[in-house]
Amino acid sequence: MEQELKKLKEDFERDLAEAKSGTELETLKVKYLGRNSRLAELFSQIPALSGDQRSFWGRRLNQVKKDLAAAWEKATGSTDGQQESLDVTFPSSAVNSGSRHIISSTSQKICLIFQKLGFDIVEGNEIEDEQHNFEALNIPLEHPSRDAFDTFYLNLAEKNNGKYLLRSHTSPSQIRVMQKNKPPLAVISPGRVYRPDVVDATHSFMFHQIEGFAVDTEINFSQLKGVLLCFAREFFSQDVNLRFRPHFFPFTEPSAEVDVSCIICKGQGSKTKTQGKRCSVCKGKGWLEILGCGMIHPKVLEACAIDSKKYRGFAFGMGVERIAMLKYGIDDIRLFYENDLRFLEQFSL
Ligand code: DAH
Repeated sequence: MEQELKKLKEDFERDLAEAKSGTELETLKVKYLGRNSRLAELFSQIPALSGDQRSFWGRRLNQVKKDLAAAWEKATGSTDGQQESLDVTFPSSAVNSGSRHIISSTSQKICLIFQKLGFDIVEGNEIEDEQHNFEALNIPLEHPSRDAFDTFYLNLAEKNNGKYLLRSHTSPSQIRVMQKNKPPLAVISPGRVYRPDVVDATHSFMFHQIEGFAVDTEINFSQLKGVLLCFAREFFSQDVNLRFRPHFFPFTEPSAEVDVSCIICKGQGSKTKTQGKRCSVCKGKGWLEILGCGMIHPKVLEACAIDSKKYRGFAFGMGVERIAMLKYGIDDIRLFYENDLRFLEQFSL
């Protein structure tokens, strides 16, 4: 038996020295210390021995088992009962989670306010044709206002509705919705628009707009004013006021540009009432332009086969970047597009 134990120990030591991985060590443990090991077999022979022999070999085998186990543990660096130290209360390493871009969240906030007022959200097409982007909106080919909008044309085969282009405003959504649906309608339509503008602190060749409009038999301008005032107070603050300045848009008549009382100086034009320093946000004017609006031009309704004698509509359009810049005091539109996390993370809540 002693001979056998000697060989067992030698084999074990050789195998242990050769074991390279944790898996190999585990296999080794099963082979030499497991239930079917040679050692276990020797243990099973002990009851058959006589008294003295039994206690001698019992102690001897236990000693060998202990030695093997100790050598194995030394090799794995682990000790039984404490195989792994895992503290489940230990704070985890922080995972950086993403969040909505400031333009997306601003757009969503605006849409949600109008949704609460009963407007449906409809996404239009980013690729439009001349018919929807211009003609149906009463912007004929020779119209001077088309210059500012004449934008990125696409190399797609022209169909009945003229050339394809990246839309220059979200107003074509009005046409698409009115051509497909009968009034009453109340729709808000957010999305990207493209203009041939040189990029600077307040301009970009691509930006975001939100279009809104309502069509029914009894729609009037005071409803438009009420809806926009409700939006401005919900979005900026309850104490803001609006100012409507007469303006021209081909697709509305009458038309207006809308200013909100400056959210920084509260329409005072100065930073504080007492100091009288010029407010840097509204440049001392007390007002900030936020959108264009008006009553939908009868020609636009007719272009969508809606009887302009029976139905009226109001419409408005605003730039999301501009609104976000005013609300959060951002002074350069390029910050939105540069993907600088130091800027974006400020709005990640
Ligand atoms: N489409 C106009 C623009 O891009 C914005 C606008 C003005 C939309 C007046 C309207 C509106 O619906 O009634 O400058």
